[in-house]
Amino acid sequence: MSERWYKEAVVYCVEVDSFQDSNGDGCGDLRGLTSRLDYLSRLGVTCVWLNPIHPSPQRDNGYDVSDYYGIDPRLGTLGDFVELATQARQRGIRLLLDLVVNHTSDQHPWFQSARNDPGSPYRDWYVWSSEEPPDRRQGIVFPGEQTETWTFDNKAGQWYFHRFYDFQPDLNWSTRAVREEVKKIMGFWLQLGASGFRIDAAPFVLEQVTPGVDPGPLDFSILDDWRQDVQWRTADAVVLCEANVSPEELPKYCAAAPGGPNDRAHMLFAFGINARLWLALARGDAEPLVESLAALPKLAAMAQWATFLRNHDELDLSRLTDEQRNDVMREFAPKQDMRIYNRGIRRRLAPMLKGERRRIELAYALQFAMPGTPVLRYGEEIGMGEDLRLPGRESIRTPMQWDGSRSAGFSSASPAEFVRPILSRGAFAARLVNIGSERRDNGSLLRWFEQLIRVVRECPEIGVGEPTVLDLPLPRSVLVHRFDAPEGTILLLHNLADVAVTVDLRSVAGSEPPSEVFADADYGPLATKLTELDLHGWGYRWIRLRRGNRG
Ligand code: NOJ
Repeated sequence: MSERWYKEAVVYCVEVDSFQDSNGDGCGDLRGLTSRLDYLSRLGVTCVWLNPIHPSPQRDNGYDVSDYYGIDPRLGTLGDFVELATQARQRGIRLLLDLVVNHTSDQHPWFQSARNDPGSPYRDWYVWSSEEPPDRRQGIVFPGEQTETWTFDNKAGQWYFHRFYDFQPDLNWSTRAVREEVKKIMGFWLQLGASGFRIDAAPFVLEQVTPGVDPGPLDFSILDDWRQDVQWRTADAVVLCEANVSPEELPKYCAAAPGGPNDRAHMLFAFGINARLWLALARGDAEPLVESLAALPKLAAMAQWATFLRNHDELDLSRLTDEQRNDVMREFAPKQDMRIYNRGIRRRLAPMLKGERRRIELAYALQFAMPGTPVLRYGEEIGMGEDLRLPGRESIRTPMQWDGSRSAGFSSASPAEFVRPILSRGAFAARLVNIGSERRDNGSLLRWFEQLIRVVRECPEIGVGEPTVLDLPLPRSVLVHRFDAPEGTILLLHNLADVAVTVDLRSVAGSEPPSEVFADADYGPLATKLTELDLHGWGYRWIRLRRGNRG
């Protein structure tokens, strides 16, 4: 039986305004993205996740929506979206949209109506308090940039709740009409060709807020409802939750009954694996990954992890201990301006790893070897860097570097007009790091990513199989794990330290002669039985033990 598409997908995350401009106004747009679908198809991605594309005052990069049924005019029109969806589908690429419905922009007509008129039908679409909430300075998400979670609104004469910035009032999810409206929004985009949604800030959507009272139990009936509704409208559409919560909580996002069927989100971001991957890289020690894989909560069958190394936000290390976080910070964000919110790093991966190619390969090989569906952010495939002169998380949103020219092939406008400046200084400048030159170079990172993605797509057991960490006498730096599935069995070796090792695999028996499908170097032919294998510093070897049944 063929597996569900999201279990074998390779997801690519695009910031549309930074990707490709088609009309010379200096801002990337949907038509520009459409014109680059062949590039994405050649790279091998099967799903594109678009960061928010709706009209928005852009005070939080579109995560402050002012119209859920429209397209930000800078990015194009609804017609352009449908054309993108059509062209993508022709290339076997699906689209996921960010659904940001914990809050709206304060400019959204719903909020404007709610605050201006106590009798407005939208008044109870938001969360109000007549008294000053005693906990109004608690529960801050953006320390340093946000000071409160309840703000007094002069027009409304009341306090309104906002989990994030004060320009992002929270929707009131106990209001029936809000639930119905959001289902309509989902239905609208599914009709236009989306294949699902990334649910922004999922736990905060489910929380029930009362002033001065600790949030009660989460209201998971919202997720039950969404799943049913989405699936009823489009059988193969998916819900992917952003939920950076404790491991015990995670399975509830996928199944109503413990151990029950997958009747909530199809996918969850693997925040736990993300932080531990970085810790393992920082320490050159496989132990955090061994622990993380052992402690990985069991999700409902058919539910899936979405793995990532870097996304559009800061690298969030809040779930590590102080000592662990300090180790990661010291190694990858030694300067204060590389850090943000006392918990994270606002850098891209390549500069964090000092542009060290072998280490970059190791990091991404590891991510793609983790259980789940890999998610890759635009520009990572060529090793783009960050611009720390830009404020906050803007640093990792510079325009895609298509070629080595002054405009980096991003737009025909004058670079002064660009939505964000092209990265033009340092070792990661567009002149030095760009798609044009990497395409011409067979040994480039881009070529390597094309190969990685091809191999992963040929190894469905990574997406669907059961992971097991092998208990072998190994150096601390080495992780050996395997995936077993009807589709096949694969053994994965990764060395987190820059010191060559030999790994004794004589106790690992395969039913077929092993074959190497991917490695950091040519290690020569494998014997018909596994023996002692060499592994270079920061090396990796993926060895197929059994070809399974794909029929
Ligand atoms: C999570 C998003 O990933 C982040 O970028 C945004 O600032 C917050 N949600 C608020 O919407």
